[in-house]
Amino acid sequence: MAPIPKRGTVAVTGAAGFLGGWTVRLLLDKGYRVRACVRNVEDAARTDFLKALPAYASGRLTLHGADLDQPGCFDEIFKGCHGLAHISHVSGYTDIDYIQRTCDHIIASVNGSGSVTRVVVTSSIAAIISEMDLQEIVRRPVFYEDRYPDEMNPKRTPERGQGYSMAKLIAERAFSDAAIASGPGSAAWDAITCCPGDNVGPIQSAHQKDMGPWQHNIETMLLGDYRQNDVYRPWMTVDVRDDALCHIGLLESTEVKNGERYIAWSCDTRNVEDICADIDRLLPELRHDTPDVVDPFPERIQAREAEFRAIWAQCELRNDRIRAVTGVTFRPLDESIRDCVESLISVAGVKVRVRA
Ligand SMILES: NC(=O)c1ccc[n+]([C@@H]2O[C@H](COP(=O)([O-])OP(=O)(O)OC[C@H]3O[C@@H](n4cnc5c(N)ncnc54)[C@H](OP(=O)(O)O)[C@@H]3O)[C@@H](O)[C@H]2O)c1
Repeated sequence: MAPIPKRGTVAVTGAAGFLGGWTVRLLLDKGYRVRACVRNVEDAARTDFLKALPAYASGRLTLHGADLDQPGCFDEIFKGCHGLAHISHVSGYTDIDYIQRTCDHIIASVNGSGSVTRVVVTSSIAAIISEMDLQEIVRRPVFYEDRYPDEMNPKRTPERGQGYSMAKLIAERAFSDAAIASGPGSAAWDAITCCPGDNVGPIQSAHQKDMGPWQHNIETMLLGDYRQNDVYRPWMTVDVRDDALCHIGLLESTEVKNGERYIAWSCDTRNVEDICADIDRLLPELRHDTPDVVDPFPERIQAREAEFRAIWAQCELRNDRIRAVTGVTFRPLDESIRDCVESLISVAGVKVRVRA
């Protein structure tokens, strides 16, 4: 099927979000026309940063209100679009039937558009690495595109916190199956999945400081309170701007094929306590009062800290495939942390706890 034409029209769901907002901005920088989908166009706190972009003044960027919970609301928005970056979250990750319904809504609107030829679906590394049994990581420590969590594990349920990773896999498969069903013919489209790592980087609007979670975690570090990450997993990061460029690269690529998935991460990993300390290392002028990282886990988990850290330390992260098809060069994490901190202060007015 077809990549999007240069300067074509792209719809972006979740456009007021951290990643969606950067995807909109970088698509515009590359000359595309963008239809930014948000839930409420009139919500100034969430949409003013989009309306302030120069392309909004000319009409090259337009904003559209649509909620995934309402079937049919994307129908008119997608008509005439060449591509769709389906980035948005859904309203919740506990009801698997609801997840399937949200996919069905979007797929019906793509099918009805008569113009969309490529959809990039945002999944997550959760759909790669989320294991109920960490011994799976010992057995299969290389994280690359063909790797899936052990989906047969009976403990893998929304009730046990796996709703998000399960939902992402449902979406990946729903879109690639629908894309197969769409062709051959002039109405055919393909679906490519992007699985981003932990997004770090600058926010563009104050409301984004509470989203994330990673930029919000850096905010809490700045405020002087930070908690250990789940089972001591290090952050496995991508700069949000590079992630957006990966999405655009997948829309443009002539090499990708329907049903393929690509991991967007820099392969940098860093432990939480080091990220906390890095703020002072990268921006000594701030005089950030580095907090001690609180360990909120029960004793039985704390007793296994060394074991868990050893499991994570042996993981090998790979990004060969996405670099080959998009040509994206990933920024170092230091740059993402620095720019995140500066934006939290300048855009969202975060008051940093400083040393006496
Ligand atoms: N951030 C990360 O580290 C990370 C890592 C891996 C994967 N991802 C994936 O990347 C995508 C974007 O993440 P993000 O961090 O940029 O998220 P975000 O900042 O929270 O933005 C998500 C957007 O989703 C929209 N949304 C939520 N429910 C919706 C619904 N029912 N209908 C329509 N729109 C809805 C919201 O729109 P409004 O603002 O208009 O209400 C929100 O702006 C998500 O799919 C996430 O799973 C993120």
